[in-house]
Amino acid sequence: MNPSARNILVTSALPYANGPIHIGHLVEYIQTDIWVRFQKMRGHRCIYVCADDAHGTPIMLRARQDGIEPEELIARVAREHQADFAEFNVDFENYHSTHSEENRFYSNTIYERNRDKGHISNRVITQAYDPVENIFLPDRFIKGECPKCGAKDQYGDNCEVCGASYSPSELINPVSAVSGVTPEQRESEHFFFRLGDFDAMLKDWTRGGHLQEEVSNKLDEWFRAGLQEWDISRDAPYFGFEIPDQPGKYFYVWLDAPIGYMASFRNLCDRVEGLEFDEFWSRDSDAELYHFIGKDIIYFHALFWPAMLHGADYRTPTAIFAHGFLTVDGQKMSKSRGTFIKARTYLDHLDPEYLRYYFAAKLGSGVEDIDLNLEDFAARINSDLVGKVVNIASRCAGFIRKRFDGKLSEQISEPGLFEEFVNSGESIAGRYERREFSHAVREIMALADRANQYIDEKKPWVIAKQEDSDLELQAVCSMGINLFRVLIGYLRPILPATAAKSEAFLKVAPLTWETLATPLTDHEIAKFKPLMTRIEAAQIQAMVDASKEDLSAAEATGKPAGPLVDDPISDLVEYPDFARVDLRVARVIKADQVEGADKLLQLTLDLGGETRNVFAGIKSAYKPEDLEGRLTVMVANLAPRKMRFGVSEGMILAAGPGGKDIFMLSPDSGAKPGMRVK
Ligand code: MSP
Ligand code: ZN
Repeated sequence: MNPSARNILVTSALPYANGPIHIGHLVEYIQTDIWVRFQKMRGHRCIYVCADDAHGTPIMLRARQDGIEPEELIARVAREHQADFAEFNVDFENYHSTHSEENRFYSNTIYERNRDKGHISNRVITQAYDPVENIFLPDRFIKGECPKCGAKDQYGDNCEVCGASYSPSELINPVSAVSGVTPEQRESEHFFFRLGDFDAMLKDWTRGGHLQEEVSNKLDEWFRAGLQEWDISRDAPYFGFEIPDQPGKYFYVWLDAPIGYMASFRNLCDRVEGLEFDEFWSRDSDAELYHFIGKDIIYFHALFWPAMLHGADYRTPTAIFAHGFLTVDGQKMSKSRGTFIKARTYLDHLDPEYLRYYFAAKLGSGVEDIDLNLEDFAARINSDLVGKVVNIASRCAGFIRKRFDGKLSEQISEPGLFEEFVNSGESIAGRYERREFSHAVREIMALADRANQYIDEKKPWVIAKQEDSDLELQAVCSMGINLFRVLIGYLRPILPATAAKSEAFLKVAPLTWETLATPLTDHEIAKFKPLMTRIEAAQIQAMVDASKEDLSAAEATGKPAGPLVDDPISDLVEYPDFARVDLRVARVIKADQVEGADKLLQLTLDLGGETRNVFAGIKSAYKPEDLEGRLTVMVANLAPRKMRFGVSEGMILAAGPGGKDIFMLSPDSGAKPGMRVK
């Protein structure tokens, strides 16, 4: 191996195992993958590992809701995540899980070493408890009215309506988002990581060139606020690892999540000859270690993680690279607008290379958010990739194939131009190295313009018609193909699939930075096949529409769980609320006019043994005598409501625009009164 080759270990944040990969996540995995592919092209050993983040309350509850064991849920999600990543050409060397023996081992080790040095303390705390589900409730599973403005249904510690911050215990009329009951306050012993013990070490580390400047500045604010002890334990029942010396207490998911990076790497070492764990993780390691993360999880990676590692005598990361969040058409991804696009939905409609290119064209080294503008997306792909890059090859390949049996000329005709392309390589490499991908793309596209300009000037289609022009035609087209080859080489970290197709077309081994410097001469190339097609507006529209459909399908099966999924973006009824609605089939056993009411009928409903009195606004569509014997679906657990005419003990569901057209179920639908509907 090349003596200047570096040993690099790279990670992306571990996606939670309770939801699908969406295009927001993909910003990170694509960014990391591009960087890793670049390093490999430069001849370095660069290992990219990841895993599913499989522990925690949301995953436990999601499995409970689905009536399966958490192990079954995380196994299914692991398969889905990996299939999505593979199709986006995100090329992990290993993809593991935090619910693994390797992770249990390193979690215990890191905990025990820190404990033995006195960095773990314990005390009793009071916490909200759901007496129906028998679990302690994380803040975001408690909702209530904002103590400042009274807005209803506010989760956790801040109000979305007035922006106030408060402690979740200040919420008025708090209820558990899981069961809907009022939480109790209960005491329990918790374990804490004494982050303050690492104050000096962290101040040094965060100023030691391991972080982006804007991130260091953010950390200064946190230092000024003082480093708090970090609660690392949770009570049973919890889906996670039991703390070795504390039966019934579990590691909080965020303790073992970053340790999952080590676990995944360890799992790889056990399979790969010559890959040594200690070479990358021991305190005296000279390997490089980088974590790509979103800006929302900086606290965990830039404070807790280096401190835990340091306390346990492991090396700390070389650098943390944080990126911003994805917006679509200038706004947060939204389910109702169809811009909350799952990786799978994207793949059903569009080529992953497009999104990889677009993100690259937008990504910089900082933490600014990046916007996917759907119109600009199509325009950019069509003009840059299809119109400029691929076009160079398609303009030249046909002549080489037809007139010269696929043979490129013996020498390149414009060595100066070729050298200009090769000389740009170091500047482009610097852009990749510093994660300034948008600049790399700009430089590469400037070269693509230059190549097209060359072909426009030479006009091979005109030369082809002249007599005795064979040598010139071959020279010009070979030059074009050579320029194309360098461009595809530079784009290869971003467009791995297109590069692979191009390598097959050029009949060359996988391109590296080094090989690009030598032109391809006296060499036979294959028949040209179109490398990429234009994006049509209709494809994008179909993807957006399908993202809206996804949502209704998901609602019908009750799959998306509002606060249970890490998705702050929703204007809909959250699943826990919907799950509480008890829908039952009921038979109308009696229907009566209501004296003095224009719209209401009074119904007596049979719920399979139990009867209910319900007032329903369906007088415009049904005569009372036509209703008797009919079936309907009713909300059986609606709180009784006192109306002018009496107490209504539920609500019936019917379909139709209103007026005469309101439809209930027919008596012969086969449903039995009392039957649960969902
Ligand atoms: N499980 C934790 C990470 C543990 S790492 C030891 C987690 N998971 S996540 O699924 O919510 O997010 C995974 C990564 O995707 C995070 O780095 C997060 O910042 C990133 N993104 C999630 N949504 C995103 C956008 N909308 N835009 C850009 N990145 C986003 O956090
Ligand atoms: Zn408020």
